[in-house]
Amino acid sequence: MKVTKPRGTRDFPPKEMHERNHAKEMIESLFIRYNYHEILSPTMEHSQLFRVKSGEEIGEHMYVFQDKGGREMCLRPEATASVCRMFVDSLRDLKKPVKVYYSCPMFRYERPQKGRYREFWQMGVELLGSGGWEADSEVIYLACKSMEALSLEFTLEIGHIGVLRNLMTDMDLDDRIQDKVIYYLDTEEEDKLVDVVGDETILELVKLKGSDGILEKAGSILEGYVRAQKTIGELSDVVGLLDAQGVKYTINLGMGRGLEYYTGVVFEMRVKGLGAENQVCGGGRYDELVELFGGPPTPAVGFAFGFDRVLDAMKEQGVVFPERKVDVLVAPVSREVWADAFKVASRLRENFVTDIDLLNRKLGKILDYGNGLGARFVVIVGSEELSRGEVTLKDMSSGDQSRVEIKELVRELSERLG
Ligand code: HAM
Repeated sequence: MKVTKPRGTRDFPPKEMHERNHAKEMIESLFIRYNYHEILSPTMEHSQLFRVKSGEEIGEHMYVFQDKGGREMCLRPEATASVCRMFVDSLRDLKKPVKVYYSCPMFRYERPQKGRYREFWQMGVELLGSGGWEADSEVIYLACKSMEALSLEFTLEIGHIGVLRNLMTDMDLDDRIQDKVIYYLDTEEEDKLVDVVGDETILELVKLKGSDGILEKAGSILEGYVRAQKTIGELSDVVGLLDAQGVKYTINLGMGRGLEYYTGVVFEMRVKGLGAENQVCGGGRYDELVELFGGPPTPAVGFAFGFDRVLDAMKEQGVVFPERKVDVLVAPVSREVWADAFKVASRLRENFVTDIDLLNRKLGKILDYGNGLGARFVVIVGSEELSRGEVTLKDMSSGDQSRVEIKELVRELSERLG
């Protein structure tokens, strides 16, 4: 019987896992240096958690099922709602701001294509308990630094859902219409906006994209809309701090984002070479979600990288991954020396990546195997050498070999491996 893997999922062979782990460690070490702490929430949640505010798009694409107790469950499609639930359950008493990160699989029942999977990984941060533009800037800056750490070329687009929402509130448009407008912006169906709002000010505002003078233009379009104008001021504080750090970006006041919980700054990052699915990062401010889940008013901001797309981009842009090396291969030449060979290997494994022949091969074949592994050294364990407390150390790149006392082996290898 042949059983295939589910559509939109992937197996990751060792080489790929090695590359993924390398990228993950680079990003993670940066998150830690910005003092974010790792958390993990369940893969499975009550579907209600995401139905409330994650938006139409996510709702349609959720993996939903009934458990044996008749509860409607789902596989997590994103982590921000889970983090807010967890904040209310167990993080709310921590010192503010609470800074957390995660790296875990998400599930969306979408049409699979290059860069779009049904099971995919996100690495993201959430910063809860600060409503300031400083927090927005830190989070956006960290996303940029992560891309730089991986040597990826990217573009950054910044928008502000609050400007749009405040304008629509100033115009007395209800939440349902507001959500629809933002949905059409996200799905890039701007032509449909006219049917929903038909107001020139909104249509003009969402067309504002670029780097120079955009905020000034927005300011004049929004003349008389007090709340919306104030929010432009907030956005200009955020980008002012980014300017001071030398961050390059474009402003896009028509940025929608597929998730409904955003209330303020939103941003997206794209990379070259990935075709249609080139958005590697999305994030923004969501000041009402914690309260919606029963917590105290807690402003929050965060982002998530689509980790699979980050990996694809690294390959596409020719980023070189360090190879995984075997330092030493231990070669027992006969059955009698196996116990000693095993001891030697076990001692070496305290310091070096060490393999041992497990197929009882002849020495020539073990050396071939060592070459295939890219082993730097082979330690040949034979009975004659053992009787003198020695082994033979073979340097696989030069071919040179010499006798070494077993008690000196670790020191000798440490010196030669550098
Ligand atoms: P999102 O934009 O839905 O935001 O997803 C973030 C990233 O996940 C996207 O930019 C994309 O790279 C990746 N992604 C999304 N769907 C797929 C898929 N089917 N296959 C592969 N990659 C995918 C969120 O999920 C928010 N929770 C981000 C956030 C955190 N906002 C505030 N904090």
